[in-house]
Amino acid sequence: MLKKLDQIQNDALQALQSVTDEDALQTWRVAYTGRSSDLMQVFSGLGKLSKEDRPKVGQKANLVKVALESAYEEKLKLLKQTALERSLQEEHLDVTLPGRPASHGRLHPATQTLRRILAIMADMGFQVFTSNEVETDEYNFQFLNFPPDHPAREMQDSFYVEAGNRGDNPLLMRTHTSPGQIRAMRAAVQTNPDNPPPIRIVLPGMCFRFEQITARSEIQFNQIEGLAVGKNITFSDLKGTLSDFARRMFGQEARTRFRAQYFPFTEPSAEMDIECFVCSGKGCPVCKQTGWLEILGCGMVHPVVLQNGGYDPERYTGFAFGMGPERQAMLRYKIEDIRYFWGNDLRFLEQF
Ligand code: DAH
Repeated sequence: MLKKLDQIQNDALQALQSVTDEDALQTWRVAYTGRSSDLMQVFSGLGKLSKEDRPKVGQKANLVKVALESAYEEKLKLLKQTALERSLQEEHLDVTLPGRPASHGRLHPATQTLRRILAIMADMGFQVFTSNEVETDEYNFQFLNFPPDHPAREMQDSFYVEAGNRGDNPLLMRTHTSPGQIRAMRAAVQTNPDNPPPIRIVLPGMCFRFEQITARSEIQFNQIEGLAVGKNITFSDLKGTLSDFARRMFGQEARTRFRAQYFPFTEPSAEMDIECFVCSGKGCPVCKQTGWLEILGCGMVHPVVLQNGGYDPERYTGFAFGMGPERQAMLRYKIEDIRYFWGNDLRFLEQF
């Protein structure tokens, strides 16, 4: 019996040598130390042995059991260790490799230009006033001195939203930011009807026109309207303010000129050009050989418009202007096609 126990131990340890993973180790454990293993058979047969043999065999069997159990523990440790080493080797992670770059969003070039204009105007004392994108015909046209059927409406073909039974006053998407002039004046008059306060505002926002979409015209675009109303405001205030704006926007050397123009809501009216910054006024394709780039429309607020805003044209005067940030961005960055602005093509947008 003692020999048999030696045999059991030898066989078990021998078999353990060829175990290479934890599954096989568990199988080994069941086979050599489990309930129906030869070793356990020895334990359960102890009762049948003689009184002298029983302690010797019992002791020996216990030794074998302890030996097998510690061999098992050791093997388990070894297998775990090699498994760890292997995974460290195979799943090798190089923490020094450069990471994937995070892509940063940025403001749209039209918004960048718009904000730059607003910042310059803020430095010059103009506050931002925002107004409705959906307007009535009254605000978009009539209060601005475009009567129904006035030919000047032809320049601003409109998207009508609702005509219904609104007669001469349908709803439309605003075709320019100028209706905000009336809203700003009326809001200011409310604060002091007898003696309305002076106004100095810029009014940014999207405008909409029913246009054929081409390289030069879009159905939606931003405008920035400006309005200054007060006592003794003259055309020289307009010229000074806008020339200063041009220098701040396009550089201290920017020369400007004013050309007479017609707008129903200003009188007199003008357009301001800046000297072409591509050719310094010599003439090139960007300025179409004229040496000048048209930047904005402007003029002295028409008395009828002041009146419609609630300001007495006998006591108050003012000037107004309107410009397009997309147009200025096109000139500044030499963008040839206005459709890029809403084309949503990253190859374009990422350049700004
Ligand atoms: N509202 C005009 C347009 O969209 C632009 C404009 C011209 C605005 C002259 C003004 C102005 O305030 O004085 O064509």
